[in-house]
Amino acid sequence: MKWVGGKTRLLPEIAARMPRSYGRYFEPFCGGAALFFSMAPRTAVIADRNADLVATYRAVAIDVEGVIRRLAIHREAHGEKHYYATRARWNDAHVVWSPLDRAAAFIYLNRTCYNGLWRVNRSGGYNVPMGRYKNPPICDAEGLRAASRALARATILCADYRAAVADARAGDLVYFDPPYDPVTTTSNFVSYTADAFSRDDQATLATTAHELADRGVAVVLSNSDTPFIRSLYRGLRIDRVRCARAINSVAEKRGEVDEVIVMGGFTPRAARRTVSRARTAR
Ligand SMILES: C[S@@+](CC[C@H](N)C(=O)[O-])C[C@H]1O[C@@H](n2cnc3c(N)ncnc32)[C@H](O)[C@@H]1O
Repeated sequence: MKWVGGKTRLLPEIAARMPRSYGRYFEPFCGGAALFFSMAPRTAVIADRNADLVATYRAVAIDVEGVIRRLAIHREAHGEKHYYATRARWNDAHVVWSPLDRAAAFIYLNRTCYNGLWRVNRSGGYNVPMGRYKNPPICDAEGLRAASRALARATILCADYRAAVADARAGDLVYFDPPYDPVTTTSNFVSYTADAFSRDDQATLATTAHELADRGVAVVLSNSDTPFIRSLYRGLRIDRVRCARAINSVAEKRGEVDEVIVMGGFTPRAARRTVSRARTAR
């Protein structure tokens, strides 16, 4: 899936900071789950509050060939008319979907919509216009089969992050990638589901992260580099990394922004040369 906040660009920085060995892998704000797919852990729990996303992962885990067949039909029909008809059908409360049809429609809309932005309005309606792609990868059969193998080994939950990590034990690894703290008051495009993630939510998440680290669960977390976020994770190791961001409503604000990777509950490897100690200790 293309997902706002997708971690593909930051993957090498995060992967380099993960513990070398761990028990179970937890990714409770999984979204596009770029890290989960790249690490392909043996035992994993992935979770998201977005019920459509979770249902899609389950369908891909259970019957990937059924999803591929339906996506091939979308690929043949793709065009403005088909996109908006699929979007209207998606939002029509009277339509009864099979899980496979629903999953294929979700992937199709995600692959062809503007910027891969899964945005819903207040009443839950999906309202993103079609993107301007020449040849969008609507049905990547091999990618889907690989995703299916990884997902079939995982427990996939539609849950709040706290429920998802409730039984994490010492030696397990939790990667938190929450909706980011906005760098400016206008940069808040954090609306993956109908409700947003407030500063109180960030503080509650930090309490959960500290508790997990205190009981020996390895915790890795990414967020934007703001004084507020740094204050929440005082006492844990905080590395600053640069990240190119594609999605911002203001064109000139696209480009490089600073993010932090927070680590706790394990002994991180030595800081890489790209991250100086002085910056880390701010
Ligand atoms: C920054 S995105 C994750 C990006 C992802 N790591 C990727 O690579 O695409 C945050 C995700 O958290 C989910 N989310 C928001 N609040 C949540 C909560 N309280 N519990 C679980 N998931 C939540 C959103 O639906 C969204 O998919």
